[in-house]
Amino acid sequence: MRLFFAVDFPGELKEEIYQDITPLFKYNGVKWVAKENYHLTLAFLGEKEEGELPQIDRAAKSVPQVNKSLIKVLDFGAFPNLKKPKVLFLKIESPGLLTLAENLRQNLKENNISFDEKPFVPHLTIGRVKEEIKDLALPKFNPKEFSFKNFYLIKSILTPEGPIYEKIKSYEILQNA
Ligand code: 2AM
Repeated sequence: MRLFFAVDFPGELKEEIYQDITPLFKYNGVKWVAKENYHLTLAFLGEKEEGELPQIDRAAKSVPQVNKSLIKVLDFGAFPNLKKPKVLFLKIESPGLLTLAENLRQNLKENNISFDEKPFVPHLTIGRVKEEIKDLALPKFNPKEFSFKNFYLIKSILTPEGPIYEKIKSYEILQNA
C-alpha cells in the first residue's frame, strides 16, 4: 500500500481556501486537487507491506511533542517557480511543523523505514500543471491560520478519477502553546 504522513486541514479552512482560489479554475490543463484532499505532507513513504505497519506506527508514536502548533497558510508558490509552474501550492509557515517533520523523519530513519528524503518544504498542493500555463494571473489570497492537533498516517489509493486518501492512524500532538 502507498503511504504518507500528513497534517489535515479543518473543513472550514479547506472551504475558505477553495473560495479564494476559485478564479484559478479557469485554467485548463491543470489537475486541481479536490478540496477534501487538501493536506500537508510530512513524509512520503511510498509502497509498504502490511507487515511493516507496526514498525511505522511505533516510529510515529514515539515522536516528541511540539509546543508550537500554529500553521499559517500564506500565499501562492510553485515548484520549480511561479514563472513556469509544474506544481502550484500555498506556502506554509510553521516552526512547530518543521520540528514535527524533522523528528518524525529522524524516527523513521532510526527504524530503517525508507521515505522520500527530499528536503522538507511545507506546502499545500492545489494543482498539478499538465499543459504549460502562459501568463498565470494569481488572485488575491487571504492568509489563514489554524492550530494543528494531530497528524495522520494516510493510505493513498490511486484511481483514474484522482487519489482517495484514507486515514489509517491518528497521532495526537500534545502542545503547551
Ligand atoms: P505534493 O504535494 O508535492 O504533490 C501524496 O502523494 C502526497 O505525498 C502528496 O502531497 C505529495 O506531495 C507527497 N509526496 C512527497 N513526495 C512524493 C513522491 N516522491 N511521490 C509522490 N508523492 C509525494
